[in-house]
Amino acid sequence: MRKTFLRIAVVLCLTVFTMPAMAVALPKVAILATGGTIAGQAASGTQLTGYKAGVLTPEQLIAAVPALSEHAQISAEQVASISSNNMTTEIWLKMAKRINELLAGDIDGIVITHGTDTMEETAYFLNLVVKSDKPVVLVGAMRPASALSADGPLNLLQAVAVAGSPEAKGKGVLLILNGEINGARDVAKTSTTQVETFRSHDLGFLGYVVNYKPVFYRLPARKHTVETEFDISKLTTLPKVEIVYNYVDPSLDALNGIIAGKPAGIVSAGTGNGSLFDPFEMVLADAAKNGIAVIRSSRVGSAVVTDFPKYDDKNLLPGDNLSPQKARILLMLALTKTKDLREIARIFQTY
Ligand code: SIN
Repeated sequence: MRKTFLRIAVVLCLTVFTMPAMAVALPKVAILATGGTIAGQAASGTQLTGYKAGVLTPEQLIAAVPALSEHAQISAEQVASISSNNMTTEIWLKMAKRINELLAGDIDGIVITHGTDTMEETAYFLNLVVKSDKPVVLVGAMRPASALSADGPLNLLQAVAVAGSPEAKGKGVLLILNGEINGARDVAKTSTTQVETFRSHDLGFLGYVVNYKPVFYRLPARKHTVETEFDISKLTTLPKVEIVYNYVDPSLDALNGIIAGKPAGIVSAGTGNGSLFDPFEMVLADAAKNGIAVIRSSRVGSAVVTDFPKYDDKNLLPGDNLSPQKARILLMLALTKTKDLREIARIFQTY
């Protein structure tokens, strides 16, 4: 009896004392590369514009940052090799399906390398259709990989560290550049050329990357990822939704051209609180009567487009505080589920 006791005590001691020395398995992070400036190459280190985006392979991006192997077991795939101004909804659907497949398996987190021009749109789309609470992080760079003080390598390292961290779970899709963590819904590119380009307008960052760990100060309030009602698993296309821009004394040519293309929806980038040039209002009201879903958003970039009886009566629905390009994404996904305007209004209040 005493012997058995002794044996158990020895085994327990050995387990406790050897535990800290045992290697902790690093998280598995998959990098999906799409191109962009982070994979861009110029003729010289001093060339910061006019370079070719999306040249480097994911293997080359990874080889440039040996410290990645201290933070994660990395796998990599090339989803596209484009400058993100050429991103398409077809690539979005392919990417979202692949992310859902990887996250249903043993991958702990995803990093998407992406051009910064449309990164906020891809982030919001994925925020609405990824079906996992595991971290998904978009990352890019404002200077090509060949530049003096290229920002891509450190951004990539921070993104991988965050994608592999348990703290980043359940926060929705994140966008990280410059050590700043933005939520997919609120973030926007705000500078054409500066590295601190991504801002979440009035609402602010979710947090920072500090010593390769995310530190969060606030959480996304709107539903995302596993909480959404959108299912893209069987979709091969998204409904056609176009954006029309409002300004002083516009002709009706662009708007009429859009309507002639028979979209399922139109988002108006209105002035002020989503207001419309009167002739636009008439054409859009007519479009709404003919079954085209119309959302009024604003070109202002701050605060909310509110209900407005004169527009509500014509079924020109307010787009909350979403930018026109993000309102378009939500309307495309809403139209995969319903054409009912009350339902579409509910969806805009939910996401
Ligand atoms: C792009 O969006 O692909 C080019 C610009 C950038 O990545 O910063």
